[in-house]
Amino acid sequence: MVDNKQILLEQIKADIVNNNICPNLAKQATNLVMGDGNINADIVLIGEAPGKKEDETGLPFIGAAGKFLNEMLASAGMVRSDVYITNIVKYRPPENRDPKPEEKEAFWPYLVRQLDVIQPQIVVTLGRHSMEYFLPGFKISEIHGQPKRKTFGDTKIVVVPLYHPAAALYNGSMRATLIEDFNKLPKIIDILKNEKENTNYGSTKTR
Ligand code: URA
Repeated sequence: MVDNKQILLEQIKADIVNNNICPNLAKQATNLVMGDGNINADIVLIGEAPGKKEDETGLPFIGAAGKFLNEMLASAGMVRSDVYITNIVKYRPPENRDPKPEEKEAFWPYLVRQLDVIQPQIVVTLGRHSMEYFLPGFKISEIHGQPKRKTFGDTKIVVVPLYHPAAALYNGSMRATLIEDFNKLPKIIDILKNEKENTNYGSTKTR
């Protein structure tokens, strides 16, 4: 049986294509990289945009930064299929340049819809490009690794901003900080689950 969430996620992908989002990126991209992993995950990780390998395969984080991400997942006791991984911008920017503000803005509503479908416990932003949309006005160097509560319309989420694995890959101290922050994620999830259980005590769970 096809999961209802899967159908809704396919619809978001179709809408990006049908609404002709970022046509200049679309026309030079091989694939639209929507996301990968467990659509019932507690954690959604959000990077900035696909690179060359991601564009070729249609899967996020499978190059050097992705390998490092896999190592961090393992050190936190997880595998890729425990989480869902996506990017704020879903097409590869040419020459791996930074995504432009208007590109991030164009994809933002589709990212919000993905999160609405998946309903994770936490959203982990990787790098400043995805962080700035969830936590505008903050500096990543000041708040990395700290869970922040946010409300979007009626939806309450917890955002944990982390450094981007590609930025930390060859920077020893940033790398150590990112690994340390990453290892906090299981504990943050446990705390949130306990909070929810206590709040739901005596009432019917809605999820
Ligand atoms: N960097 C990202 O931000 N996303 C990817 O998918 C790969 C590298």
